[in-house]
Amino acid sequence: MSEQSIISLKNIEVKFQQKNQLIHAVKDVSLDIERGDIYGIVGYSGAGKSTLVRVINLLQKPTSGTVLVNNIPLAETNNNKTTYLQGSKLRNARKKIGMIFQHFNLMNERTVADNVLFPIARNHTLTKEQKNTKVADLLALVGLSDRSNAYPSQLSGGQKQRVAIARALASDPEILISDEATSALDPKTTNAILALLKSLNEKLGLTIVLITHEMQAVKDIANKVAVMENGQIIENGSLLEIFTNPQKQLTKDFIDTATQLEDGLAKVQAQPIVTNLQAPDVLVQFSYAGETTGEPLISSLFKEYGIVANILFGNVEILQSTPVGTLIVILSGESHAIQTALHNVKEQGVKVTLLKGELI
Ligand SMILES: Nc1ncnc2c1ncn2[C@@H]1O[C@H](COP(=O)(O)OP(=O)(O)O)[C@@H](O)[C@H]1O
Ligand SMILES: [Mg+2]
Repeated sequence: MSEQSIISLKNIEVKFQQKNQLIHAVKDVSLDIERGDIYGIVGYSGAGKSTLVRVINLLQKPTSGTVLVNNIPLAETNNNKTTYLQGSKLRNARKKIGMIFQHFNLMNERTVADNVLFPIARNHTLTKEQKNTKVADLLALVGLSDRSNAYPSQLSGGQKQRVAIARALASDPEILISDEATSALDPKTTNAILALLKSLNEKLGLTIVLITHEMQAVKDIANKVAVMENGQIIENGSLLEIFTNPQKQLTKDFIDTATQLEDGLAKVQAQPIVTNLQAPDVLVQFSYAGETTGEPLISSLFKEYGIVANILFGNVEILQSTPVGTLIVILSGESHAIQTALHNVKEQGVKVTLLKGELI
């Protein structure tokens, strides 16, 4: 565990016994999340994401493994025996962890203000006035000051999620777990909620665990990402590392969807210029990050090697202030020149994937 870890999971196992079937939902997961991270956890439905994050606040007891939050062990396995934090100690540890969900989980018979008040209503260290001020401040923070007397049924999906966020923040958590919080929202509302989460991360230093099946959401606000499949974390690292150098096919698939490369590629592959591709021409994908940029790359191919590059698709993303670009191009020229050029382009740190044709 590193010094700054606010959440440290070690060798987490979760098994469910269902009738005659054993479901192994989480398999030997170890993960460290540092204070101030927005840690994205992506995976398809059933991968074990929700089960894993419910382990963080012990809503789900791990079958075995160690869970440290702020260095406090909520679960611990020693000598094959797993013990769990209980009672008031568990309640206090849980106050540090807020949670929001896909379906908001608001109380429909209570006003917006009363929903937000709920977690602190029975707090004896705050006066009634302090509580009301706190609720008003939280509603201002999420941009809902004018709806405090409304009922959930009178709100849009995005507004409901804002109420849920304000409610999750009422007990001053240091961690916010977002389990598919934008999955029921349209793209525009999703962006607004993600921007709100990012601003809370910056303003309050809130650590956010962002569970989603959409890499797009992770790409927009996370600084770290883990990919889950079949109960395991198959790959994790900084957003930039994962996006520029994914190791696993599933990670690549998620990224291609998020960067619209998948769509782009399908359209490109259907074009006559590609279906009729003649040797020695090749269809290649260039991926690059940081200093290298697309335009000089393409012009150097012509100037230095006499290769004509026909750009069929291009995309540039800014990830954590670093431009990350993808180009799909047909290269036409003398076959040896193409080989030399691709070799030298790789030397410059550009990733080259041959999509169609042969290097002869
Ligand atoms: N309480 C439970 N009892 C039995 N099986 C469960 C329970 N919760 C989750 N599972 C199973 O564990 C696996 C992982 O589920 P889940 O964590 O919800 O995945 P995700 O959030 O990635 O969609 C699934 O096969 C699911 O059916
Ligand atoms: Mg889930």
